[in-house]
Amino acid sequence: MSAYSSKARLRGRCIGFVPTMGALHEGHLSLIRQAGKDNDLVLVSIFVNPAQFGPKEDLRKYPRTFIRDARLCKNSGVDVIFYPGIAQMYPEGYRTYVSVEGLSDCLCGRSRPGHFKGVATVVAKLFNIVQPDTAYFGVKDAQQSVMIRKMVQDLNIPVKIRVMPTVREGSGLALSSRNDYLSLNEKKDALILSRSLSFAEYLIKSGLKDADRVISAMKQLILKKRSAKIDYISIVDASTLRPLKKIAGECLIALAVRIGRTRLIDNVVVKVSLRKDNR
Ligand code: PAF
Repeated sequence: MSAYSSKARLRGRCIGFVPTMGALHEGHLSLIRQAGKDNDLVLVSIFVNPAQFGPKEDLRKYPRTFIRDARLCKNSGVDVIFYPGIAQMYPEGYRTYVSVEGLSDCLCGRSRPGHFKGVATVVAKLFNIVQPDTAYFGVKDAQQSVMIRKMVQDLNIPVKIRVMPTVREGSGLALSSRNDYLSLNEKKDALILSRSLSFAEYLIKSGLKDADRVISAMKQLILKKRSAKIDYISIVDASTLRPLKKIAGECLIALAVRIGRTRLIDNVVVKVSLRKDNR
């Protein structure tokens, strides 16, 4: 992979890179299409990264659909798929991890300790191997995107990060490889994530700026679904991920909710101008 990228770069080719764990869906394909528009070559990695799964998480059952993924990549104009094995990425004696302090332990990091260290480590490794000009991520994993931007800045990694909008089903459900775990009824209940975010956006746009009140209104709505168990709902500054008491500026409303046994995440960014008459 490195030899291919080095040669391409010597020839002046611009490389767009979409890192994935496979089980590709329209969200990934939208990143691939954008990479195709912006670059001469599109590279996709498919690697289910064990370092970002906790001991009780779904590493073993995470969908692995390489043949289907390869077909989708081919049809979407991908030039190369990088598909390493675990022993290539983490050979015997592997010891080095990347940790982005202050952005890894909040929100999803609280209930998934070690997750973002695993993500930062594999993304840093992939960037070194693939040597892309630009890498593409979805804003659905908002915390991941903020953390990767910071990592690239702090470690002087010469890769431009582009964060693209969440792709949703017509119903509003954010696309995720984990949606495959949901039963039909659970899939209906899962709509409560995007609905509660729209409700929060509506409340804020109607003048409610007290974060705790917005969060408790969202909680009440979500808990009407018996299969839903809230992991967290947070309203934070969209670039620092610091919690906000009063909603102002560019805020990220992020949540993780278990629907049955499946943990789903979603978020929305709301821009609020600073005014005095807010509740
Ligand atoms: O977003 C994902 O699919 C993964 O976290 C990533 C960025 C491919 C790293 O394994």
